[in-house]
Amino acid sequence: MPKALQTDVVVLGAGAAGMFCAIEAARRGRRVVVLDHATAPGEKIRISGGGRCNFTNLSTAPERFLSENPRFALSALHRFTPADFIARVNAANIGWHEKTLGQLFCDGSARQIVSMLVTDMAEAGVDLRLGVTLETVVAAGTGFAVQTSAGLWHAASVVVATGGKSIPKMGATGFGYRLAEQFGLAMVETRPGLVPLTFGGAVLDRMKDLAGISVAAQVTAGAGTFAEGLLFTHRGLSGPSILQASSYWREGGGLTVDLVHGRDVAAALKAQRQSGGKMAVRTALARLVPEQLARQVERLEGMDAVHLADLSNSAIDRLAAALQAWQVTPTGSEGYRTAEVTLGGVSTTALDARTLQARAVPGLFFIGEVVDVTGWLGGYNFQWAWSSGWAAGQVA
Ligand code: FDA
Repeated sequence: MPKALQTDVVVLGAGAAGMFCAIEAARRGRRVVVLDHATAPGEKIRISGGGRCNFTNLSTAPERFLSENPRFALSALHRFTPADFIARVNAANIGWHEKTLGQLFCDGSARQIVSMLVTDMAEAGVDLRLGVTLETVVAAGTGFAVQTSAGLWHAASVVVATGGKSIPKMGATGFGYRLAEQFGLAMVETRPGLVPLTFGGAVLDRMKDLAGISVAAQVTAGAGTFAEGLLFTHRGLSGPSILQASSYWREGGGLTVDLVHGRDVAAALKAQRQSGGKMAVRTALARLVPEQLARQVERLEGMDAVHLADLSNSAIDRLAAALQAWQVTPTGSEGYRTAEVTLGGVSTTALDARTLQARAVPGLFFIGEVVDVTGWLGGYNFQWAWSSGWAAGQVA
């Protein structure tokens, strides 16, 4: 029987949260081993933000996070802030810019963030082991025994940073959730978030006809309302406003969509009727939305070959409602295959907000996406990974 390897901290998962936690713990002088089954660290960082990594957001208001207790995240987010992460990025000479809505991206490549973390880990003396299959984690003495394909480790602390279920093709597993259950921690049901929504029947047929077209929209699902781009696809709807709303959408629920956000369609058509009433309805609509969409709405409302001058106020209001108060019900979502995040996870009630340590299991920590804290689109999820990793790294 080979001898167990001794260390102070075993971090499970070399993603954003795990690497950041490992750096912090090692800088405190702890012996840290990071284990991951992937062949490269930080794969989700590498593909994030279209290859430029939207690494943080200037705002960390609690309403930008979904959780059974959105205020839980504030302790870590206030102690390691977006400004703190920006300082690290600046120190590593990584150029960045604000794209929109406080979202910060690398000027160059997301790989620069991965390299910064890998360099920091090496400098702090972290032992990074890739291609390792995790087998079991059990309490042993005053710490834990972690059995893997690469041997058995004994450590006083285990930090679970195995992420969510999104994109299994990239190595996502439910390992962290199963571990939490094994140790008796409360869980919040998981579901895909920041995900395109799918539709069926005649509604989908109409969406397919518009595939590739995008508009500035406002989308509401449940308690979430988002004014950003919307994209018609061959499977339904996507684009930032839909991804954001998807995190608030529940099976069977509907969406309210304004496809002409920021304009008053009824007022614009009434004004146009006064000045150029001979205009076809489709032509007037095409001044507000892409032509294919204008034609579709005209047809659906039975106004083909009708002139604006022939429309009553109530007919104009109907047209406006078709575009600005569109009620539509998804049949589902594209699921974990394409979801950017997993909602739910290890319940915040089971964890100490300051340290991310399991209240009932001293030495066991959960950080990053495996926890029931999920940010909006826009850099919030990485900031949660850095902040929660930093917080656990101060004590693990
Ligand atoms: P993360 O998933 O990063 O890391 C988990 C690690 O654990 C992985 O390395 C995995 O291999 C390993 N692991 C899992 N199971 C294991 C097992 N059983 N054994 C061993 N290892 C295991 N967010 C944002 O803020 N800005 C952005 O621009 C984007 N963009 C983006 C694009 C795409 C396509 C996706 C899918 C996601 C994003 N995100 C994002 C979300 C962001 O990537 C995500 O929230 C963080 O990566 C979560 O960090 P974690 O460290 O918690 O998990």
